Amino acid sequence: MRVLFASSEVFPLVKTGGLADVAGSLPAALAGAGDDVRILLPGYPRALDTAEGKRQVADLGDPLGVGAATLLVSAKLPGSGVPVWLLDCPALYRRDGGPYQDAAGEDYADNLLRFGMLSWAAARLSGADSPVKWRPQVLHCNDWQTGLAPAYLRAWQPAERPATVFTIHNIAYQGLFPKESVPRLGLPWEMFQIDGLEYYDSLSFLKAGLVYSDRLTTVSPRYAREIQSAPHGCGLEGLLAHRAADLDGILNGADYTVWAPDRDTCLVERYAPADFARGKAVNKAALQAALGLDPQADAPLLVVVSRLNDQKGLDMVLAALPAILRQGAQVALIGTGDRSMEDGFRAAAATSPRQVSATIGYSEELAHRLLAAGDMLLMPSRFEPCGLTQFYAFRYGTVPVVHATGGLADSVVNATYDGLMTGTATGFSFEYANDGAFQWCVERAIGLYRQPDVWRKIQKACIAQDFSWKLSAGRYQALYRGLVAPPAARRRKAGA
Ligand code: ADP
Ligand code: GLC
Repeated sequence: MRVLFASSEVFPLVKTGGLADVAGSLPAALAGAGDDVRILLPGYPRALDTAEGKRQVADLGDPLGVGAATLLVSAKLPGSGVPVWLLDCPALYRRDGGPYQDAAGEDYADNLLRFGMLSWAAARLSGADSPVKWRPQVLHCNDWQTGLAPAYLRAWQPAERPATVFTIHNIAYQGLFPKESVPRLGLPWEMFQIDGLEYYDSLSFLKAGLVYSDRLTTVSPRYAREIQSAPHGCGLEGLLAHRAADLDGILNGADYTVWAPDRDTCLVERYAPADFARGKAVNKAALQAALGLDPQADAPLLVVVSRLNDQKGLDMVLAALPAILRQGAQVALIGTGDRSMEDGFRAAAATSPRQVSATIGYSEELAHRLLAAGDMLLMPSRFEPCGLTQFYAFRYGTVPVVHATGGLADSVVNATYDGLMTGTATGFSFEYANDGAFQWCVERAIGLYRQPDVWRKIQKACIAQDFSWKLSAGRYQALYRGLVAPPAARRRKAGA
């Protein structure tokens, strides 16, 4: 099966969050299972610098009147065997800053064109008139940045088009632009209607993906249900409920070649799963020393690796912090995002430097070290389509404390009496996202942390979890195959 996987970020070339992890590892899992996959990504400077053995394979012209675009191919994504297609359009992508925002944290003023172009290229490279010989049978789009690709294919009606799959990683980001953008992107006005691109009189990239793709997926079964009603559907719940038969929740997987304590080069000491107690103790002591925390082996160390915004619910951590610290716990965070939350954690660290450490910024290395050293991972997300950090935490024997939502609810088994008795408990969860419920949940976790036998049992259950891509990649493959089955076979299957 030939699959083109279009994404605005791909680990290790460019990453702001979990989408990059998925785009870096799911295609590799699909390729490992026999599919012929290519990844399409904008040619950001770091991606161009990092991608090995690039060569230009096609001239894409200047479809949006912003400057010429070419397609470069790199033989493989570092760390995996998957070829990467880089959309090189210097006028749009060659600049300092992140994929969506400039160095000062402001959205680029021309994101409409940046991701309009990415969508355009994904469509162009998929249709019968593609300048490249290799053409996909399935175009797999991800999040709003690629949402217009299925709309372009529908508008152009190429003689042959691939099947289209659209995955929602986060419905809260929709890619909304003024309606005047529709002709600017070369899309017909007729598509700007309630069953098309229009969302409350604006152009919505995300809605385009939801309306014009053959099949929809999102990244956990629970989130697939949640987004079919308010508030999680963020205004698109009606459309999603209407397309419920075409919507699957497929849980993300973890890349255990990147997240494994026994081969993690970021750690001061690697440890085998069976040796987690000793390994974690060494890493905890080293981290406490490095961050200036009290060198107390038995103080529960609560870690956070996260974007700092309303979704992630870290205001609940700030609210509960005095109570958490009174229990003798320590908190260590790496995160970046909303200014007020960054300031809140900075202030907490300044007030209690021996108990709280806040590193504001982005560091893969520190993320790995926190997950190895921590006793618990805090993820009180108000909503969480899947969440990957809890999978990584499991692998390192770090116990997640989570709000029971989306993929967190689908992957963390709460330490209830039954969960503890049966040895299935892998973490702590609370039902209602409020300060009191979160605080109580952390206190419950700290209480059990002080019972080493019980705690070890939970850690062992965590380490035994297998959230590798194998199962979920198989689900995507089944979905692709269902879409490209010959029409007669499809009719037979549907009982027609
Ligand atoms: P989301 O995509 O919503 O941010 P996920 O849990 O799916 O949440 O994925 C987050 C990814 O980003 C993980 O790989 C996590 O380790 C990483 N991450 C988030 N914030 C930081 C940070 N400040 N520094 C390093 N890694 C981070
Ligand atoms: C989004 C979601 C996160 C998910 C990730 C990868 O960023 O917020 O929950 O794990 O995408 O699918």
